[in-house]
Amino acid sequence: MKRPKIAKKAMGSRFPKSFFWGYFVALLLISGVHIALLLGMQEAHFNDIIIVHVILAFWALVAGGLTLYTRIQVRKTYEIPMQRLAEATARIAKGDFSARVAPLNKKSDFDYLDVMIEDFNKMAEELGSIETLRVDFFSNVSHEIKTPIAVIQNAAEVLKRQDVNEVQRKENIDTITSAAKKLNTLITNILKLNKLENQSITPHVSSFDVCEQLVQSAILFENVWEEKGIEFEADIADERKKIVADEELMPLLWNNLLSNAFKFTEKGGTVSLREYSENGKIYVIVEDSGCGMDEQTTKHIFDKFYQGDTSHSTEGNGLGLALAMRVLQLSGGTISVESSPGVGTKFTVILNE
Ligand SMILES: Nc1ncnc2c1ncn2[C@@H]1O[C@H](COP(=O)(O)OP(=O)(O)O)[C@@H](O)[C@H]1O
Ligand SMILES: [Mg+2]
Repeated sequence: MKRPKIAKKAMGSRFPKSFFWGYFVALLLISGVHIALLLGMQEAHFNDIIIVHVILAFWALVAGGLTLYTRIQVRKTYEIPMQRLAEATARIAKGDFSARVAPLNKKSDFDYLDVMIEDFNKMAEELGSIETLRVDFFSNVSHEIKTPIAVIQNAAEVLKRQDVNEVQRKENIDTITSAAKKLNTLITNILKLNKLENQSITPHVSSFDVCEQLVQSAILFENVWEEKGIEFEADIADERKKIVADEELMPLLWNNLLSNAFKFTEKGGTVSLREYSENGKIYVIVEDSGCGMDEQTTKHIFDKFYQGDTSHSTEGNGLGLALAMRVLQLSGGTISVESSPGVGTKFTVILNE
């Protein structure tokens, strides 16, 4: 793995050469003082015993001073920050991801220890957010699995009874089938998302015709727009446009955008699929005249399991756009959304040619 670059200035030593030169010069000067002291005392005809004691006292003072100074410097520059880091690491190891360490210097004077502390804080934050995601994920999954299972259980109980007529029997079998289908899609989606998140599906990028793929995806919804009496417009400007992306993953994105557009648009509405290219970028726009979303909903639609419009919640599990987003991240594309309640929604996907 390539090592991330740390600014050269920040990589400088905490005890630079100049520090040791300082020691060297200071000791030379002190030895000068020693000689001056000695000569001065001899000149003044001091008793030899006194001279020895004064010199000894002088060096005891110098040695004590230098040792103390070195000790304070080492403590300040290494020991204290390392102890703080050790305490924070121990807290994280115990599962407390709120542990943070304060850097020692101002941002403009950061050295490598500060950089390390800052990276440590970032790491702790990331770990914390992964942990919350994991906890939320499991409670969401459990909820999503329990609901259809309860539905299946109820319908099966009804079927067990002697007095069910043919109509009720058919209704309950349909209920079981659709709940089972929902469970099936849920599990398939979770597995796909998990694979995508762990990157065990490394994108198999190849160059393929995106226009052809868009048409193929749109055709899948023919029944839906006919049944719902929705006017569907497709305007694919390029006859053929190659993009470099994962050919198998991209339909997940198109199908999700189109299925949402048809799902959230009432009878008699319109859905459009447009494609054009400009300055080396390919734009794909899915627009509908459906129920739209308020600002709060728009902010969360790419979160796993988020469903804004609960009236359609039986028809999905809130994983579609999370998957779509992940597919785009792997393909180097972007997605944006504009929506207003009661007017409609417009998703814009931008990909590189
Ligand atoms: N075209 C759209 N019109 C209105 N709301 C939409 C549209 N597309 C997505 N949303 C909102 O975003 C939410 C998340 O979408 P998605 O992840 O595909 O989940 P799902 O389709 O299973 O509900 C939907 O529940 C809905 O509230
Ligand atoms: Mg969806």
